[in-house]
Amino acid sequence: MSERTLVLIKPDAVRRGLVGEVIGRFERKGLVIEAMVRRTMDSELADQHYAEHVDKPFYPPLKDFMTGGPLIAAVLSGDEAIDVVRKLVGATDGRAAAAGTIRGDFSLSNRENLVHASDSTDSAKREIGLWFPELAD
Ligand code: TYD
Ligand code: MG
Repeated sequence: MSERTLVLIKPDAVRRGLVGEVIGRFERKGLVIEAMVRRTMDSELADQHYAEHVDKPFYPPLKDFMTGGPLIAAVLSGDEAIDVVRKLVGATDGRAAAAGTIRGDFSLSNRENLVHASDSTDSAKREIGLWFPELAD
């Protein structure tokens, strides 16, 4: 069943010139780019986007990182897109992520791990509403 998911290509990926590499992997897989924009997260959007993490000890440095430079936000669609994109992205910690995944191939960090991807149908709906309200259903 076709689904939509929200992806952020994080500030580390933009800084390192990896946007094309990351987007290319999604495109070559067959996912469709429904919307895409370059934007810098402000404090309020960071707190909303990471609502489940705001009280965790890793949140302050995560917020500094995520608001510290421009990122690319995109909505991707395709068959089982939410799970498929999470698989392409890999495990949270780049040091543990499998080779062949985006994080496994390009990140050595548990924070600067290049990509965010929605983890469920509920979070995809919520996150698309935050970043692309014009696409909300
Ligand atoms: P999480 O939702 O657990 O990971 P994922 O992005 O794979 O869904 O965490 C959100 C982000 O928070 C994660 O991408 C990187 C950062 N983070 C840390 O900085 N330290 C940590 O210990 C964890 C678990 C996450
Ligand atoms: Mg998550």
